[in-house]
Amino acid sequence: MTILVTGGAGYIGSHTCVELLQKGYEVIIADNFFNSSQDVPDRIAKISGRRPKVYELDVADGPTLERVFAENSIDAVIHFAGLKAVGESCQIPLRYYRNNLDSTLTLLETMEAHGCNKLVFSSSATVYGPKNESPYTEDMPTSATNPYGWTKVMIEQILRDYCAANKDFSAVLLRYFNPIGAHESGLLGDDPNGIPNNLMPYVARVAAGQLPKLTVFGDDYPTRDGTCLRDYLHVVDLAKGHISALEYAESHTGAEAFNLGTGDGVSVLELVNAFQKVNGVPVPYAIGGRREGDLAEVYADPTRAHEALRWTAEKTVDDMCRDAWHFICTRQAEG
Ligand code: NAD
Ligand code: UFG
Repeated sequence: MTILVTGGAGYIGSHTCVELLQKGYEVIIADNFFNSSQDVPDRIAKISGRRPKVYELDVADGPTLERVFAENSIDAVIHFAGLKAVGESCQIPLRYYRNNLDSTLTLLETMEAHGCNKLVFSSSATVYGPKNESPYTEDMPTSATNPYGWTKVMIEQILRDYCAANKDFSAVLLRYFNPIGAHESGLLGDDPNGIPNNLMPYVARVAAGQLPKLTVFGDDYPTRDGTCLRDYLHVVDLAKGHISALEYAESHTGAEAFNLGTGDGVSVLELVNAFQKVNGVPVPYAIGGRREGDLAEVYADPTRAHEALRWTAEKTVDDMCRDAWHFICTRQAEG
């Protein structure tokens, strides 16, 4: 089977390409490398022993995407391509709506023209919005608090409408919780440009001495230690969830959402302490004020993914901390 992976050079996409290649799928990456490095396909090939085909393109560029479908017989698409920084999406909302919506619409039109009818989409726990309470279940109402989140809510709706009109189409909407960690080889991981927004890459850079200290955003939440709880899952477990989703799409039609998380909430301080203990490195931190928009508790009810996809996250928080540290040390050694 040949799988087109949009955004396949990115953090989650690259790990998913490794899993796909190791399972024997043919892989085609379509990425504009806006938020990823040109050497990622080589790294994927080094780990998996097989080389993905790569097209450097913007998924919203219809004629170029058309060429990809004309040149290859594509059986299914995993659609990771998108902009993902919550804060930035509030500053430049049009860019987020244009990129995330246009790329999805162009992709669907091109798939339709070529009779390709299986799609796995990168959605997010952010679609549960501020009003639902954890643990989140897939049938809760969706909403958002920022343009990034709205693009996910809107794309989910587009896919539901498309499936309602096209009965042989399958759209699997994967709602990721907080993917962290890296490939155990140290060759792939989360390597954001500039100062990281997210907790784990920030912690890793503090531990590596690249940043002076972590600011913990608030310790006055109604949680067991006052810091926010999140459902952290290892990116390799998440990547494997996409193989399960593809298998599901083989035998089901319609649009269906699945939470991909562990079901456990881990606090900011618990994650920082685990990182220090597992890796034997200090992570200096100070308690700061709350970050606007943060929720006290975000964790999944992953029952539907367990039962329908037969997928369960297996790796521990210690695995996530160890692999994130190995990745940053490998990066530093590479210079
Ligand atoms: P990433 O930025 O590392 O990867 C996205 C990739 O898509 C990048 O390589 C980027 O260059 C590419 N891209 C963006 N727009 C494109 C376009 N128009 N055409 C071609 N390529 C384009 O992000 P990630 O963390 O791997 O996330 C992948 C997907 O998962 C995104 O849709 C994101 O919104 C979603 N998601 C991520 C998280 C997370 O915490 N990382 C959580 C929930 C959902
Ligand atoms: N945090 C800190 N200090 C930091 C960074 C983060 O204390 O320097 C805290 C945050 O306050 C939060 C936790 O660490 O309590 C996790 O924060 P992240 O930014 O790593 O992750 P979020 O849960 O805020 O956001 C993630 C994705 C979003 C997605 C959201 C959905 O990054 O794209 O999950 O729930 F929308």
